[in-house]
Amino acid sequence: MKLLVLLMTASFVLVEVNLSEIFRNGRTLGGNVGVPKPDKHRENVADVPDEWFTQKLDHFNPTDERTWQQRYLFNDQYFDPNTGGPVFLMIGGEGEAPVEWMTGGNWIDDAEKHGALLLQLEHRYYGKSHPTEDMSTENLKYLTSQQALADLATFITAMNKNYSLPSDVKWIAFGGSYPGSLAAWLRFKYPHLVHGAVSSSSPLLAKVDFSNYFKVVRESLAAYSDDCVASVQQGVREIGTLLKDEVGRKNLNKIFNLCTPIQESLEKPLDISNFYEMIADNFGEVVQENGANRNSSQANANITIDVVCEILVNQTIGSPVNRLGKVNDLLLVTRDEKCMDYQYEKMIDSLRNVSWDNEEDEGDRQWMYQLCTEFGFFTTSSNESHIFGDKFPTSFFIQQCKDIFGDSYDEDFIDGAVDHTNMLYGGFDIEVSNVVYVYGSIDPWHALGITKTLDKKAPAIYIEGTAHCVDLYSPADTDSAQLTAARQKVSQLIESWLKL
Ligand SMILES: *[C@@H]1O[C@H](CO)[C@@H](O)[C@H](O)[C@H]1NC(C)=O
Ligand SMILES: *[C@@H]1O[C@H](CO)[C@@H](O)[C@H](O)[C@H]1NC(C)=O
Ligand SMILES: *[C@@H]1O[C@H](CO)[C@@H](O)[C@H](O)[C@H]1NC(C)=O
Ligand SMILES: *[C@@H]1O[C@H](CO)[C@@H](O)[C@H](O)[C@H]1NC(C)=O
Ligand SMILES: *[C@@H]1O[C@H](CO)[C@@H](O)[C@H](O)[C@H]1NC(C)=O
Ligand SMILES: *[C@@H]1O[C@H](CO)[C@@H](O)[C@H](O)[C@H]1NC(C)=O
Repeated sequence: MKLLVLLMTASFVLVEVNLSEIFRNGRTLGGNVGVPKPDKHRENVADVPDEWFTQKLDHFNPTDERTWQQRYLFNDQYFDPNTGGPVFLMIGGEGEAPVEWMTGGNWIDDAEKHGALLLQLEHRYYGKSHPTEDMSTENLKYLTSQQALADLATFITAMNKNYSLPSDVKWIAFGGSYPGSLAAWLRFKYPHLVHGAVSSSSPLLAKVDFSNYFKVVRESLAAYSDDCVASVQQGVREIGTLLKDEVGRKNLNKIFNLCTPIQESLEKPLDISNFYEMIADNFGEVVQENGANRNSSQANANITIDVVCEILVNQTIGSPVNRLGKVNDLLLVTRDEKCMDYQYEKMIDSLRNVSWDNEEDEGDRQWMYQLCTEFGFFTTSSNESHIFGDKFPTSFFIQQCKDIFGDSYDEDFIDGAVDHTNMLYGGFDIEVSNVVYVYGSIDPWHALGITKTLDKKAPAIYIEGTAHCVDLYSPADTDSAQLTAARQKVSQLIESWLKL
């Protein structure tokens, strides 16, 4: 009997660990590009097998001959080797490369039309692509966007040989979110290998203090109503008031279903910052994923800006802080979490885990490393008069870098690293041709993108009312006319590049 209880407890804990992932730093569980829904009018190949490519560990040290196995996927069902059709390359990003892209998503239509060979390369250090024996900070030094671009270039060169592709074969790169940046940068760095790129929802400017993230979140909620924004802001202020006395703190425990009583965290400002950030991230998640035609659980897909704003303006639920609590309840349910775990030390402990088996963080340690060493992208709020207040400024995120990777990952280091990234790729001044940038107005990431056409050879498409990477997913009945037109424009551009 006792044994049984122990066993049950053990398996229960395991389940909890697997699901306790949260949306953090503008990143969704498993990476920002989700799983596309299968195409309605097409047979879907569910059993695309994993393929493995022998890749160099360090592309920038000729004497280092170490290699590792990089996962990739292919689908040649539309490809005609006789015509030597183009190659479409989906670039993997900050999560496992989803097999569903090989038979789903908007690019399939274009692949069929042009007889393209479809390939997807998983990003080093994510998913099943493990270049080193673990993720110690020392080993993570090979995790850079430059190495990832060199992986892509090496892979393209090898596949040209493997498939005996004609010397003038045209590769088109696709990517959403960080891989969207990689798609543009690949064309920029290796124009002789990649003929064009679709760069969707891509942050092109590295920036330490990405306060505009929550500015766009605020604007997206304001598109529902100003009352919705006012309620969030008032709710956040009420939290500050409730934190001040014992009765208030007890209330907060209940309203937000906190795993640890907030009383215990009063002396821990980092816990309090984390608590505020998690409240804000609830809204980041809802806005960023709003209405995307991706394969998420029905419950998750149902929580849209409209749904949360309806709660926020509903006075019968109670004061604004109670309404924030109600939204939090909804999101806890979709994440299968029993309570809100805002403890800073616990989060850091998990991010310090160097094991590939640490499922709990599914790429979070790696992504955090890239933020701390290349991009910043810290979704801060540091102004009392802003919607989410002033409790998670840049210093809160830099503290995380130091606590996870070591004291040398400090402010000066990160400032220098971010400048270096913009020097490498040009930020908004990147000069490329045959690239199309696609952004949605309610996607917070558009704030780091090129949303207006500055150069006809690399046009921008800005879609009113769509969220993160929405254009990459398959069309849905609910698509706006602007979204449909954007997809058509991208298809036309691909067609015109293939004729060049
Ligand atoms: C979503 O993916 C799961 C497997 O991960 C699959 O069983 C399910 O049918 C998919 N749902 C939709 C709507 O595509
Ligand atoms: C070459 O392509 C074939 C599929 O046509 C694949 O099975 C094989 O693994 C590839 N070779 C390499 C080295 O990737
Ligand atoms: C989600 O929305 C759909 C369609 O509006 C509805 O049928 C379904 O019951 C909803 N599911 C949940 C979990 O709310
Ligand atoms: C407001 O919330 C109450 C209590 O949850 C609910 O019964 C009511 O339907 C909601 N009103 C609107 C307009 O959504
Ligand atoms: C790291 O994560 C793995 C897998 O979840 C776990 O077995 C291990 O105990 C963790 N290591 C530390 C130091 O917490
Ligand atoms: C805070 O934001 C307000 C409104 O956007 C602005 O007027 C003010 O200058 C900001 N304060 C600081 C310290 O940045």
